[in-house]
Parts: sequence; C-alpha cells; structure tokens
Amino acid sequence: MSDLKKIFEEIGQLVQSIRDGALASYIPELANVNPQQFAMAVVTVDGECVSFGDDQSLFTLQSTSKPFTYGLALEEHGEAFVHSRIGVEPSGEAFNSIIELEKKTHRPFNPMINSGAIAVANMIQDKANIQREQRVLNLFSELAGRKLDYNREVFSSEKKTAHRNRAIAHLLRHFEVIGDDIEESLDLYFKQCSINANVKDLAAMAATLANSGVQPLTQKRIYKEENITRMISLMFTCGMYDSAGTWAYTVGIPAKSGVSGALFGVVPGKMGIACFSPLIDGHGHSLRGVCAIREFAKKMGLNIFK
Ligand code: DON
Repeated sequence: MSDLKKIFEEIGQLVQSIRDGALASYIPELANVNPQQFAMAVVTVDGECVSFGDDQSLFTLQSTSKPFTYGLALEEHGEAFVHSRIGVEPSGEAFNSIIELEKKTHRPFNPMINSGAIAVANMIQDKANIQREQRVLNLFSELAGRKLDYNREVFSSEKKTAHRNRAIAHLLRHFEVIGDDIEESLDLYFKQCSINANVKDLAAMAATLANSGVQPLTQKRIYKEENITRMISLMFTCGMYDSAGTWAYTVGIPAKSGVSGALFGVVPGKMGIACFSPLIDGHGHSLRGVCAIREFAKKMGLNIFK
C-alpha cells in the first residue's frame, strides 16, 4: 500500500504539466470549480483504500453514474426487457449525439451514451412507496458505503439548460423507447448525474464492480454477478464513447468518464481506480484523469489482456 502512495505521488507530479482542456460550461454550474484540482484513489476488493491529492473535494458523478443505473435496470427488469429498448453496440459518436439511434429498431446504441441512459432512467420507477429519485440515491449511497446527496445547484443548472437532452428524450418518446413521463425521466437522469461524491466514494463504487457486485467495505451484495459482467463489458466497449477504441488499446481496462472530470476504471478481481480533475477534452474525459489512469495501469500491469 505504501508503494501505491509513491506511485500516486509520481503520477501527481506528472499530471501537473497538463494544463489544456476546459471546464464543462454547457452546464453553467460545472464551471464554478477550481480547474487545477487533482485527486486519485484505489479501493481493492479486500477493502483497502489509498488516496491522493484533493481527495476530500466533492464533484458530481455526471456520466460515471450511467453503468450503475444500467445495472439497476438489469436487476429489476432483466436483460431481455432492458435490451429490447437499448442496444449493446458502440456508437462511435459523441456522448450527446442526437442523430444516432439504431437504424431498424430506433433503440439507443448502448446505455453509456445520453440517449441510452435517459432510456434507462425511464425504466426506474417508484417502488414500494419509495420514489424513483430516492431509490437512485439509496443505490449510490450503498455503492459508496456512506450516505450521498444531490448537488441541487448542478441539478437545476442542468435542468434549465438541457435543450439537447430534452430533444433526445422527445425523439425517444417518438419511437416509443420511453413513455409519456419524459420530464420525470429527464429529472431522474439529471439527479443521478448531480450526485455529489469524492474520489474515494467513486473508487469504492468501482471496486464493487471489480468485486463481482459485493461492496468491499460493507460486504453488501448490490448486483448479481451476471449483471456485473454485462455492466463492465459495455463500459469496456462504450464507456469512453468515441475514444473507447483508443482507451481499450492503450489502457485495457473497462472505464467510464463524466464531464465533471470524474473517471473510473475497474480491474476485475483486483480493484477499482478513480480520478477527479475537472479540465476535460473534446470527448468529455478528464485530461489529467486519462493520463493518470493510463500511467497507473501501465506501472501496475493492469491491462486485462496481459
Ligand atoms: O447529460 C449530460 O450532458 C451530462 N449530465 C453528463 C454527460 C457526461 O458526463 C459525458 N461524459 N463524459
């Protein structure tokens, strides 16, 4: 574990020189952060946690939430139902693509892009008197191993400016991928994106996937093993959107990014790795985060094909 600290320090030094990128100002509230922050953490399947840098800073999960709600939909509705409405193919397009639905079925290509994640949100309904928003918050709290909450400012900032996601949702309604509860589904999607977490929380969530669905700090089973395989397969092929191929080729672990600068990777049977650094590239990935996880995977020999 002290070796990990040393590696994090080296990586922290290395990423200092990366100063390109931009804050995700299309959600205005996301531009109100210190752009130079950098944090990194690992949680192993044995429940050990090592972190570095701005590890107390809170950020919103944004698209790093997508694999986890996809998993909830699988648990609740089963694979056949979920994939009657959402595909499993990489789209080769940006995360917010509005034109790309599958030609014949009109399904979103996969649950990692916005169209697919909005379709997933539509599948999560109130249950046993618990409102859908609370169910999602409970899920993420269990994944982190502590109580999490929404960031109200980021939520309303996205809700006010989400013309593109609203257009995607209406297109999905047109093709009957989702029902009439369009605004409710969008609200749920914006809420999952605006959950506040720190880098250790995100590493614990990632470690739950690495540990076949059991949260390593609380030992609570959150997903069935068969659903974990589905979640991390789609993270591998689609989690990094239109740079998923480059990521798979150069890093070789399933991963998911978010426009807040959050990024996590899953090393099955070993660990979850998370990074937070807010300056993002044109694909919506944290520039320092991509460099940090790539270097960490290289140093530790984590490529799953190795
Ligand atoms: O829907 C959006 O545009 C944001 N709430 C999430 C997008 C995102 O994080 C893309 N990932 N890198």
